[in-house]
Amino acid sequence: MGEQGKRVAVFGAGYVGLVTGACFAELGHRVTVRDVIPEKIAILERGEVPIYEPGLDELLERNRQRLTFTTDVGEAIDGAEFVYVAVGTPPTFSGDADLSAVWTVIDELPPVDHRIVVAMKSTVPVGTGAKVRHRLDARGLGHVGYVSNPEFTAEGTAVKDFMEPDRIVIGSFDQVDADAVAALHEGIDAPIVRADVASAEMIKLAANAALMTRISFINEIANVCEATGADVVKVAEGIGYDRRIGNSFLRAGVGFGGSCFPKDSLALKQLAANSGYHFQVLNAVIEVNELQKRRVIGKLSELLGSLRGKRIALLGLAFKPNTDDTREAPAFVLAGRLLAEGADVVAWDPIASSDGLHGVEQVTTVEEAARDADAVVLVTEWPQLRDVDWPAIVATMRRPVFVDGRNMLDPGAMRGAGFTYDAIGRAAPTG
Ligand code: UDX
Repeated sequence: MGEQGKRVAVFGAGYVGLVTGACFAELGHRVTVRDVIPEKIAILERGEVPIYEPGLDELLERNRQRLTFTTDVGEAIDGAEFVYVAVGTPPTFSGDADLSAVWTVIDELPPVDHRIVVAMKSTVPVGTGAKVRHRLDARGLGHVGYVSNPEFTAEGTAVKDFMEPDRIVIGSFDQVDADAVAALHEGIDAPIVRADVASAEMIKLAANAALMTRISFINEIANVCEATGADVVKVAEGIGYDRRIGNSFLRAGVGFGGSCFPKDSLALKQLAANSGYHFQVLNAVIEVNELQKRRVIGKLSELLGSLRGKRIALLGLAFKPNTDDTREAPAFVLAGRLLAEGADVVAWDPIASSDGLHGVEQVTTVEEAARDADAVVLVTEWPQLRDVDWPAIVATMRRPVFVDGRNMLDPGAMRGAGFTYDAIGRAAPTG
């Protein structure tokens, strides 16, 4: 490795950029990660990691020799054979993806005279690659290659998802660039899907849309289960054995959040709309998810009456376990709704913070959160919640109401412990 390694510049030291950089270093390449935020670079230079992502700290540590961090574009590009773009593409007010950070990277590229390949990791609308190609050509950089190489890494398992992916997608204008990027992934055992740039861009958006569709679908099945007395956990198991359906992404709950799904669904919806197409299924998926995040409020109102002055404990703030990320987290929507109803909200999370949630009291233990609460809502399925001594908690609550927003705990055991236990898409509480 090492000596044969390629020189890779990664623009953006966020989740995607850091994981990409660390994994390419692990594959033997020499990587420079560049970010515009000096504090972030300083943290990385000190050997610390500015985000929580399991395995990332070890990977960065192990490959320290092959990794450098900088704010300087020239230093990042110097000698680089590949320039990975891993900057944020947040939604604008219109729902389109904001590509200003992407354009900054492209426009800041110094006029190199050797052949380099620009690889797009950021999620971008279909057609972006063609625009980048045009812009590079206009600057006389026709010799700079371009590929779309989307990421499919989920937070919490990003390192594993990068090193052991289901597939690697490479969209290119020129076969030579696709070959080079494929070679860069040598050491990873996965099928490579080669495509034109537009199709590669769409693969990313369509994959996310398919996953979100499954979640909203099972959430709607859950809601009908509640109305009809069926149990969505059993239903998901029963349909999941069908190989045509498969059993992943069929967990009903309080809806999806995170940095990708909500943003990417809006971007795809807007992309379709801009081309004059009304994407009906996707619109429904988004709407179902918004309603799902608020459904727990209805359950609490049914169990507690007015929520004014009621103390509600939220267990979990992160949008899913094993991450400190609270972007678009259902817990934040729930907290906002509860506060608006006049409830007192107390929250626990092992690593995520309630920063930005004004009026929410954050505590450090589940026991503290539940003490004197009128209801506990399990929002994020942190594994440690399985080991809590729930029977001991019942007695400390003002009212033993428990809403399991992730169907994580055993209904029989929770009811046996004395809880008025409700979940998502399972038989209604018996009181
Ligand atoms: C997702 C995609 O999985 C990844 O491929 C893409 O690159 C980025 O977006 P991520 O947002 O990190 O990754 O998390 P993921 O594990 O996919 O979960 C997304 C949301 O869906 C979470 O809020 C999770 O709780 C929810 N979810 C997931 C469900 O509600 N039910 C499920 O069955 C699965």
